[in-house]
Amino acid sequence: MTENDFVPAAYTHSIQEGFVTWKAPSNIALIKYWGKTGTQIPANPSISFTLDGCATTTTLKYRKMSLPNEAFSFEIWFEGSLKNAFKPKIETFFKRIETYLPFLKDYHITIETSNTFPHSSGIASSASGMAALALCLLDLEKQLYPAMDPLFFYKKASFIARLGSGSASRSIEGALVLWGAHQETRGSSDLYAIKYPYQVHKVFEDYNDTILLVEEGEKQVSSSVGHDLMQGHPYADRRFAQAHENISKLKDVFASGDLTEFIAIVESEALTLHAMMMTSRPYYLLMKPNTLSIIDTIWEFRRKSKTHVCFTLDAGANVHLLYPESEKEEVIQFIKDELVVYCENGHYICDGIGLGAQKM
Ligand code: DP6
Repeated sequence: MTENDFVPAAYTHSIQEGFVTWKAPSNIALIKYWGKTGTQIPANPSISFTLDGCATTTTLKYRKMSLPNEAFSFEIWFEGSLKNAFKPKIETFFKRIETYLPFLKDYHITIETSNTFPHSSGIASSASGMAALALCLLDLEKQLYPAMDPLFFYKKASFIARLGSGSASRSIEGALVLWGAHQETRGSSDLYAIKYPYQVHKVFEDYNDTILLVEEGEKQVSSSVGHDLMQGHPYADRRFAQAHENISKLKDVFASGDLTEFIAIVESEALTLHAMMMTSRPYYLLMKPNTLSIIDTIWEFRRKSKTHVCFTLDAGANVHLLYPESEKEEVIQFIKDELVVYCENGHYICDGIGLGAQKM
């Protein structure tokens, strides 16, 4: 498919006003998206676990104007307060998607959004937030064109979410999702994410993710800046090739349930992501001393306990602990005994693999 396939033909129905609510989950990348070109085209393919508890709920209210607006007419409310600070980001998003959702200027739109996780937690809400908004917009489009194919609905929701935030493309469906063209993965595309199309061992069906909140609050360097720094980065080409290779290697791991190899790939991806930050110009560090203490403690515990707990990182200091359901009791005890001390205010969030967004 090409971008043109997402430009709609004429709508068949007319809608005056109404509202729709969608809840979309966050996701945690196993193979990291880091670097992009053009309009949100990833420099390499990525794979993520869709989460369950960490999510954004968004209600879109729409009222048709008697004449189409010159500009986008919208307001955004976050957890009950009007948030004009979010408007520029949404304005940029609307400009990018207008060709694909040409009804936008016909309506006055009110966006009401809230997260299940605390805003202060340092968990990025762009993936779940943009996914929930994209689904609400697609829902309105489906009312204007009820013949829309259900499979196309999810594909286009991911396409639209991607234009808001790359990782948001992976927050529409569950449980294991791939975004970005990968030669050995059928159906993969740079334009939208797909459900992982090959065999997945049952050990991964109920995998756990406990997020250790090392540093609450906003991170200092945004992901957008980080992606940009991959342009002209001395190791970029090798890194992009490595992501492709790691996705190929994961195919066997997902099929066999080989957790030792899973751990080796996932932890390497996390450290490589941060290595890219440390070796860009300007260079920077998002890990904190407690991030490193947690990693050391996990490695020590894994040696002693023979469990399969491992870590991954997103673009921040927090640590995601990944482990199979069969080891949950032992790992939760380990977190309480040895890791809570490294969490800001002792905070951590227990989550697990989820099945994707839901209409409310
Ligand atoms: C480190 O999706 O937040 O979490 O496309 O600029 O919105 P934009 O970036 P974003 O980047 C996520 C980067 C990451 C890795 C990942 O989720 O794959």
